[in-house]
Amino acid sequence: SAPTPEHPLFAHRVVPLASISDPAHVDAIGAGLVAGGLPVVEVALRGEHGLGAVERLAARGDLLVGAGTVLSIDQARRAIDAGAAFAVTPGLDAEVVRYVTGAGLPIVPGVLTPTEVQAAVGLGLRRLKLFPAGVFGGLRLLSAYADVYRDVRFMPSGGISAATLAEHLAHPAVFAASGSWIVAAAAQGADAVAALAREAVGIAEAAA
Ligand code: 3PG
Repeated sequence: SAPTPEHPLFAHRVVPLASISDPAHVDAIGAGLVAGGLPVVEVALRGEHGLGAVERLAARGDLLVGAGTVLSIDQARRAIDAGAAFAVTPGLDAEVVRYVTGAGLPIVPGVLTPTEVQAAVGLGLRRLKLFPAGVFGGLRLLSAYADVYRDVRFMPSGGISAATLAEHLAHPAVFAASGSWIVAAAAQGADAVAALAREAVGIAEAAA
């Protein structure tokens, strides 16, 4: 059975994406997001540092940690073992969706086309990632989908920044927006991440 939309993930309107190039940045990411009032992170399982970052961030206990770029059941299993509380995927894989929902966790799979939206709905999902939104005219796609798929809500991702966050969050078909621009400041330290997190939270509050 699909997890209910009341999972804490769905309380957040901005989901920062962390792609870890240097494990030395992980603590600044966690501390910065918490200090900035945005205690949620999607850690991309790209490269060798992703799983370790999931584990280290989840061990803090003060922010909601999920795994992104989950491409296989094996990756999903490892991420959940490491403490991931939700999963995000770039595309729609029914087996991965069934595995994660079977583990009792929410999954937000990536979709782009109407066929993919309908396949995800057929798997019992109503909250989907629109990826890569920026490449495909995300806001216009969202308007087209909102007319047709009345009970589906989207998390656009790909090319979103502080400059375009408000227009995405104002769209009625959007439950959250995700992107890497907040955690991109990790090399500058926790304060830099916190400043960008705070800015995003302010934009989300103004859009509410
Ligand atoms: C994703 O995986 O969601 C995207 O790569 C995020 O895109 P961005 O880096 O352009 O924010």
